Amino acid sequence: FEPKLLQGRRVLITAGPTYEAIDPVRGITNRSSGKMGFALARACADAGAEVCLVAGPVHLPTPLGVQRVDVLSAQDMHAAVMARAADCSVFIATAAVADWRPAQAHEQKLKKNAEAGQAKLPQLELAENPDILAQVARLPAAPFCVGFAAESHDLLKHAREKLVRKQVPLIVANIGPATFGQDDNALLLVDARGQRELSRADKLSLARELVRDIALRLDQP
Ligand code: C5P
Repeated sequence: FEPKLLQGRRVLITAGPTYEAIDPVRGITNRSSGKMGFALARACADAGAEVCLVAGPVHLPTPLGVQRVDVLSAQDMHAAVMARAADCSVFIATAAVADWRPAQAHEQKLKKNAEAGQAKLPQLELAENPDILAQVARLPAAPFCVGFAAESHDLLKHAREKLVRKQVPLIVANIGPATFGQDDNALLLVDARGQRELSRADKLSLARELVRDIALRLDQP
């Protein structure tokens, strides 16, 4: 009998985009599909972990045995994560959290002013969203934190910056081209000592490799 790699561990994962309301019918979001986070949730559950998946608005089935919490906005995601993070041994932030939200969500649908013949366009004032990963990493009893990075250029440089800025031990960088919605990807694992590439494969295979890597790190003194 071989114990599973994450047996007895509790893992918290964020996935998908967030949706920031402008008014009841409009909002700001992004093209994250959530596939990498859902693949990781499945791989962690298969490895014996108790998994909670905090998901933004995506159309993906919940992996077997995974507890799913659906959220819309970054603030909702932040609250759902902070309520659970201290009880977990691993936190994996794959979500593409919106950096900004409209400073105020209008209760009623904004109307076009065409009838009035006014040229004045509505102005969107933005407010910054909380950095969920950075806050979890700074908890007194922080879980082992893994961040993701999607960049259009200078991948390694930005991944290294994120390690320091967010104070996390591991950043996983998506190796371009843009992988939104695709079923496969290639990843670069970046830590304080160096980097290792996981060559192009389907997201579930990559997730299983990443789980192996994380499990080894947890067992290190
Ligand atoms: O530097 P950037 O914010 O793009 O870093 C991305 C990483 O941080 C991802 O792991 C993402 O899930 C996480 N993040 C977060 N909360 C935010 C922004 C990013 O948890 N508000």
